[in-house]
Amino acid sequence: MSKPKVLLTRKWPASVEAAASRLFDVTVNPDDRPLSRADIREALENYDAVMATVTDDVKSGTFTNLKPKAKILANYGVGYSHIDLEGATAAGITVTNTPDVLNDCTADLAMTLLMMAARRAGEGEREVRAGKWTGWRPTHLIGTSVTGKTLGIIGFGRIGQAMARRAHFGFGMKILVQSRSPVAADILAETGAVQVDTVENLLPECDFVSLHCPGGDVNRHLINAERLGLMRSTAILVNTARGEVVDEAALAEALKSGEIAGAGLDVFEEEPKVHPGILECENAVLLPHMGSSTSETRVGMGMRALRNIEQFFNGEVPGDKVN
Ligand code: DGY
Repeated sequence: MSKPKVLLTRKWPASVEAAASRLFDVTVNPDDRPLSRADIREALENYDAVMATVTDDVKSGTFTNLKPKAKILANYGVGYSHIDLEGATAAGITVTNTPDVLNDCTADLAMTLLMMAARRAGEGEREVRAGKWTGWRPTHLIGTSVTGKTLGIIGFGRIGQAMARRAHFGFGMKILVQSRSPVAADILAETGAVQVDTVENLLPECDFVSLHCPGGDVNRHLINAERLGLMRSTAILVNTARGEVVDEAALAEALKSGEIAGAGLDVFEEEPKVHPGILECENAVLLPHMGSSTSETRVGMGMRALRNIEQFFNGEVPGDKVN
């Protein structure tokens, strides 16, 4: 029996590409070129499985009048707000993601951003590299302490919980949580976290706010001008979730006017574009969507995506089916 034809839309870690090639008739993307909407549609019509990533535009319109050969779209990544789930379901396509394997890695990066923004590490690095450092002095690049402060976590899934552990056990932080549904008492108890009923009630209480909720329309501009106005002028916002969760124009204004003290961002509304106002803010630490970028995690994500299509082609329901 011939092997299923599988397309990897981007370059994957070599060991995962090798594993994929042993199992399937794989087409890789050695140039790592982003595919257009038309390319994706063509792939869905010509392959048995398409293994996509966050850079693929699989939003509404992708599935309109499509005659898919592919019955599975396996996303390499946990977030899937770039995929029109309803459209895929209507077209009879199973969608999967890669949860769990990137929890620690993403929480590590959220903590990195929190620390960098608090301690003005981006500004310091730019100063040293520009040859502008004039030496130690008592008032140079004064940041804010992290230990013992209050961290608000919006979205308390697996990554949010991993962030809470780092902040609580590593830095003695008090944890406040806002989540759509009630969080189980034993999960809150692990880090002494307290669940707050609304975002409005959480924001004024926090020295740091870290976003760990899903993206997509449901959370678009969850952090907007009004809510930024509820944050403390000394507070720092961290976003490793999805760019659309924050209104970037409003954030740029808040950072410039001193409404909040700083931000650490790994994700942006129109990646790889960054709002020009944000780029002007010295008090923003900006990273290029690298929350899951360790070799261990990227291999783990690839293997998890492969497991999903293996299960699918074995006639099982893939473990990480999301529709
Ligand atoms: C994820 O896994 O969601 C990362 O953000 C890459 O898509």
